[in-house]
Amino acid sequence: MKPAILLTGKTGQLGAELNRLLPKLGEVIAPDRSELDLRDPETIRRVMRDAKPQLVINAAAYTAVDASETDEANALAVNAEGPQVLALEAKKLGALLVHFSTDYVFDGSKDTPYAESDSPNPLNAYGRTKLAGEEAIRNSGASHLIFRTSWIYATIGRNFLLTILRLATEREELKIVDDQIGAPTSARDLAKATTAVLNGMIARTSGQLASPKVTGTYHMAAAGQANWYEFAKAILEEAARAPQGLPWLTSATNGRPIIARRVLPTSTQAFGSPTHRPAYSVLSNARLIEGFGVTLADWRAQLHECFSSSSQ
Ligand SMILES: NC(=O)c1ccc[n+]([C@@H]2O[C@H](COP(=O)([O-])OP(=O)(O)OC[C@H]3O[C@@H](n4cnc5c(N)ncnc54)[C@H](OP(=O)(O)O)[C@@H]3O)[C@@H](O)[C@H]2O)c1
Repeated sequence: MKPAILLTGKTGQLGAELNRLLPKLGEVIAPDRSELDLRDPETIRRVMRDAKPQLVINAAAYTAVDASETDEANALAVNAEGPQVLALEAKKLGALLVHFSTDYVFDGSKDTPYAESDSPNPLNAYGRTKLAGEEAIRNSGASHLIFRTSWIYATIGRNFLLTILRLATEREELKIVDDQIGAPTSARDLAKATTAVLNGMIARTSGQLASPKVTGTYHMAAAGQANWYEFAKAILEEAARAPQGLPWLTSATNGRPIIARRVLPTSTQAFGSPTHRPAYSVLSNARLIEGFGVTLADWRAQLHECFSSSSQ
């Protein structure tokens, strides 16, 4: 039997991709923020009780990392308090909750990929609120899968890919930090990997998804690693080779030519961001591969794929 699926965050980068793929798995109910605000526990309870989903996928979050520094209470409400209510309701319904978290739960002091068993120690408010969300879900007693990912981009929304493309139409020279290392992950690949995990589970459990056996935290990011400077250079290389008239690219550049000729490395300190970010936040997907047999492509291949796709 196809499960009823409640998806939050359908207007976001990941949520939009999930909203495209999930109908293959079940009946999707996808309230937007005006219909389900994660800061409003009563509405969450009402929507959950009306929809009675077997699967709840929370792709909504307060993702503005810099803004979280001065708006932590709001970020906490969206990233931890709302997800806690979702989890408690999921437990009552016997539903599985799928939630997404971040590489920014780590402090970046390692120089080899982070495993799920490594201790989190967030450096910024966003990371603290996302870690609080993970802990609230673990403590709720609900069956859950928490997928930690990193550096999401898509052809919609606010992200590094679209920022670089816009800046490249305005400036001949871009200075980009080269001392933060992570894995740029396309929302499309992340949604594909998520649905692959769920598809396998639905088949194995005949739709009885909620089970203590599947509960856990898994890292789910593109393979490989890059710093932001390398990512920016790769974006401009792909843009130079992209098919003429690629609709999302035309919209990202507002139809203007790319004039950036040089990308230069700079340091986080010279760049002067007010928010601390980990210097190294590469995630090891070994547990995901072992547990579900699901792999994600290398970040460079994902980026190339993004520039080959005409759909937004
Ligand atoms: N972006 C990254 O680089 C990154 C990295 C690691 C992990 N993650 C995690 O991955 C997940 C997906 O991130 P994303 O980049 O796809 O997010 P996104 O593009 O910023 O989208 C966020 C979504 O959450 C919704 N939302 C925000 N506040 C809400 C509220 N109070 N109630 C209900 N919905 C609300 C937004 O709705 P509106 O459109 O109405 O604002 C939007 O649909 C999140 O859990 C995020 O923390 C992201």
